Amino acid sequence: MRDNMSNRVAAIAAVGLLLASAVSTKETPDFTQPPIANLSNYQNGSLFDQWRPKAHFIHPSNQLGDPTAFWADPDDGGKFHFTALYSYIRGSGNASLGTSSFSGATTCDLLHYEDLSGWENPVQMGPGNAVDPVADFDGGVVAKGYKGLPTLIWTAVKGLPISWTIPYNDGYESQALAYSEDKGKSWIKLDGGANVPVIPLPPYTGNVVTGFRDPWMFQNAQFDKLLNNDTDSSELSHYISMSSGLHSSGPRIWLYRQSNESSNFTQWDFLGPLLQSEINTTFVEPGSGFAGTDYSDGNNYETSQVTSLGYHGDTGLEGTGMGFVSFGAESNKTMMLYRLGHWVRTDLSDIQPSNSTASNNRTTVTAAYGVEMNTTMEGVLDWGLSYACTGTRDVVKNRRISLCWIKEAFADQDSAKYTTEYISSLTLPRELYVKRLNNVVDNPSLTRQRGSWSILTNSSSLDSTIAANETYTSPVAGRLSITMLGIRPACELEAYRSQAEKSYCSGKSVTLSAASLDGNSSSSQTEVRRGVRSGTETALVDEAFVPLAESPCTRHYELETTMTFSNSSLRNDTAGDFAAGISILRSNSSSENRSMEDISIVYRPANESVIVQRRTALGGESVLQTPEIGKLRLWETIAGDDGSAQVQNLTMRVFVDGSALEVYINDVFALTTRAYYWYTDSNTVGYVYQRPANATQVDDEASSVTFSNTSWWQGLVNAYPNRPTDKNQLIKQAVGYAEPDPNPNAAGVVYNGTGPAPPFPVLP
Ligand SMILES: *[C@@H]1O[C@H](CO)[C@@H](O)[C@H](O)[C@H]1NC(C)=O
Ligand SMILES: *[C@@H]1O[C@H](CO)[C@@H](O)[C@H](O)[C@H]1NC(C)=O
Ligand SMILES: *[C@@H]1O[C@H](CO)[C@@H](O)[C@H](O)[C@H]1NC(C)=O
Ligand SMILES: *[C@@H]1O[C@H](CO)[C@@H](O)[C@H](O)[C@H]1NC(C)=O
Ligand SMILES: *[C@@H]1O[C@H](CO)[C@@H](O)[C@H](O)[C@H]1NC(C)=O
Ligand SMILES: *[C@@H]1O[C@H](CO)[C@@H](O)[C@H](O)[C@H]1NC(C)=O
Ligand SMILES: *[C@@H]1O[C@H](CO)[C@@H](O)[C@H](O)[C@H]1NC(C)=O
Ligand SMILES: *[C@@H]1O[C@H](CO)[C@@H](O)[C@H](O)[C@H]1NC(C)=O
Ligand SMILES: *[C@@H]1O[C@H](CO)[C@@H](O)[C@H](O)[C@H]1NC(C)=O
Ligand SMILES: *[C@@H]1O[C@H](CO)[C@@H](O)[C@H](O)[C@H]1NC(C)=O
Ligand SMILES: *[C@@H]1O[C@H](CO)[C@@H](O)[C@H](O)[C@H]1NC(C)=O
Ligand SMILES: *[C@@H]1O[C@H](CO)[C@@H](O)[C@H](O)[C@H]1NC(C)=O
Repeated sequence: MRDNMSNRVAAIAAVGLLLASAVSTKETPDFTQPPIANLSNYQNGSLFDQWRPKAHFIHPSNQLGDPTAFWADPDDGGKFHFTALYSYIRGSGNASLGTSSFSGATTCDLLHYEDLSGWENPVQMGPGNAVDPVADFDGGVVAKGYKGLPTLIWTAVKGLPISWTIPYNDGYESQALAYSEDKGKSWIKLDGGANVPVIPLPPYTGNVVTGFRDPWMFQNAQFDKLLNNDTDSSELSHYISMSSGLHSSGPRIWLYRQSNESSNFTQWDFLGPLLQSEINTTFVEPGSGFAGTDYSDGNNYETSQVTSLGYHGDTGLEGTGMGFVSFGAESNKTMMLYRLGHWVRTDLSDIQPSNSTASNNRTTVTAAYGVEMNTTMEGVLDWGLSYACTGTRDVVKNRRISLCWIKEAFADQDSAKYTTEYISSLTLPRELYVKRLNNVVDNPSLTRQRGSWSILTNSSSLDSTIAANETYTSPVAGRLSITMLGIRPACELEAYRSQAEKSYCSGKSVTLSAASLDGNSSSSQTEVRRGVRSGTETALVDEAFVPLAESPCTRHYELETTMTFSNSSLRNDTAGDFAAGISILRSNSSSENRSMEDISIVYRPANESVIVQRRTALGGESVLQTPEIGKLRLWETIAGDDGSAQVQNLTMRVFVDGSALEVYINDVFALTTRAYYWYTDSNTVGYVYQRPANATQVDDEASSVTFSNTSWWQGLVNAYPNRPTDKNQLIKQAVGYAEPDPNPNAAGVVYNGTGPAPPFPVLP
């Protein structure tokens, strides 16, 4: 057995040597000892398995970026095609972190994935032609497009950098077309990659936009109807939404419509803005926090998707239900947001961006009418660090399936790129739909403010939803029906339960309250810690912890629990300002040379927030530890005939899959983040109750929470049964990171996107 301490000493000595001789000895990680803060001092590939998700969409190795170009194949049983941007070696010195190509997989069951063109060379399209010399960014796909084939319209990049924070260069981003003759295994660029983009320039030129990318293709009968476009053709028109913005005016989503017959996808007419916002604003009540901050819509939209949603899922083709658009909104805290509302016709005869000085130079053909969203609510699609969410219609079950990119959260991304040898994954597949909640107690200070819900004024039609602060008298006094965006894990993920390798179910409920911290706890197992970081360095909490009778023994599981809070604790500052929830990935003990680590997911009723606290052994110099915070309202509803009101329970589903941590609550809230646990024994799960350190608190109903129906299912499902299990095979494929840095072979490694990729470089 190896002596870990002497190993550490040897490595420290080696760092000294490095300066003199440029030869380094990197360490093997020891998960029983505290980690080295600088992750790049571990051996290449040595952290490949530590945090790697098992059940998530992930590239074989290397960097994953935005999910994009999703589609479902109606000729192949509705098989889903998911793609995510990918980095790969192309041209000299390009072992960078940039994701500039497309790599995808298919799935029929949303559990198992098959790499589209094999795991050895999983690239379907890369940059390098006249139309896209620098990079390929996100695009949209239709199953039957150009020549009746699967057709991709994507952002072909000719110049970088592009950012909303700097002046724009017209033409750096143009929208180009490719089609596939092999069901998406490879994409054929129009005219062999000649410089013939189908949307060459932004609608307003003169370098006035903040960005012009991520074309999203869709059909919607409601749009055709509004534009009197439903002539004889049984075929619906195709539309494109373009994510963009105008400097000094605000973010925009532009609408385009296909010009000619539906067999030709090369000409698109400009139809004005589909969504426009003032710079640094939101739709919701200022100060409410339901869209994040008051300036969440920011400066530039990205990665938009457009459809319509109903109670059962995607109604995009039919155009019934509520209009839906989701988008990344770039600001000083970029977030993934959504709007629900109604599509309305707009007159384009006099469209001007609000700052016409800056942007009156319109270059594109313009139609007489356009379609815009009349928003009734706005919210956050994922409160954590996931981004660039996109989706597709399930053509068999008419669901809306959506996945997001889960960024990594290393303090310095470069420190981990050789030690993990992969970066990022997507989220689990989620279903989006309109969720309805009846008999909500109509307390105007809670219900009648603009937020992430709308009021349903006529139960027979979603057309009748209105923004929550519109004047409205409910036919049943004191009650309302509201609609929200439903977000839940795809139903196929039930397999994580039915196929679990091990599971646990607690039959009894557990109540925690002020007494649990004050030594009067009924449970002898209660562990009390005082002065614990609540996630930030400054705010300390005292904490009571009650472990479950049994905890999982791997970091791949689903957990569910239901928490009951009393109505008197909600929005009540005097109720001790406590937070309660689940603590996971918790190490068993602290000792002389190591402190405890854990991740806690808690709800703080006083300010209606969900907080994910990350107290990992890897500190802030290695990984981001700022708490993730989201806002969730528990509604009071009238349950029985006696008119008695009950506050909604909080039912939490937590998916732990390596470092990928996803939290879903009440089918309306999602928060994804990274959990970089370290120690081998950091597996304990239990209930946690916290209040500000040394606070005094009355032990009453308002300070208590009850946990019930707590279960976990260990194992999840291996998403890639056909990939090799040997990590070296996955890493040392032709398109992995070159190592070491700088890669001496880079000059010889040029992959042009067709044919067999060059062999992995010979390393010194
Ligand atoms: C981490 O170590 C690498 C060498 O292994 C060094 O280049 C880098 O500067 C270090 N990073 C920090 C933040 O100290
Ligand atoms: C209008 O756009 C064209 C094409 O990009 C450009 O050459 C011209 O300078 C622009 N004019 C103004 C006033 O911005
Ligand atoms: C598409 O339309 C353009 C413009 O009308 C035309 O030049 C082109 O040949 C058409 N392509 C196909 C495949 O029909
Ligand atoms: C609804 O609230 C918004 C701000 O949140 C305000 O601008 C608007 O005037 C309000 N509408 C009504 C009908 O009160
Ligand atoms: C909008 O917010 C950004 C930061 O997110 C800031 O840099 C910019 O100046 C703001 N613009 C206006 C007009 O307030
Ligand atoms: C930028 O972020 C800070 C918080 O970090 C916030 O207080 C400020 O209002 C933001 N400014 C704008 C214009 O978005
Ligand atoms: C309009 O845009 C121009 C050019 O970017 C800028 O100088 C001017 O301040 C803007 N005006 C307003 C009212 O935002
Ligand atoms: C948008 O919806 C509101 C009701 O929420 C309505 O008063 C308004 O007329 C609608 N706007 C348009 C352009 O239809
Ligand atoms: C707020 O909390 C205090 C202390 O727990 C409790 O006595 C009071 O009844 C609560 N207030 C409301 C309005 O429920
Ligand atoms: C909350 O959960 C408890 C325990 O499972 C259950 O008895 C109660 O009916 C639930 N309350 C509501 C409002 O659903
Ligand atoms: C809480 O009280 C203890 C004992 O008086 C003290 O040592 C500690 O610093 C206090 N913590 C805080 C955060 O005030
Ligand atoms: C791409 O590379 C392959 C193999 O190296 C070569 O056969 C092919 O001609 C190249 N294609 C182009 C367009 O350069």
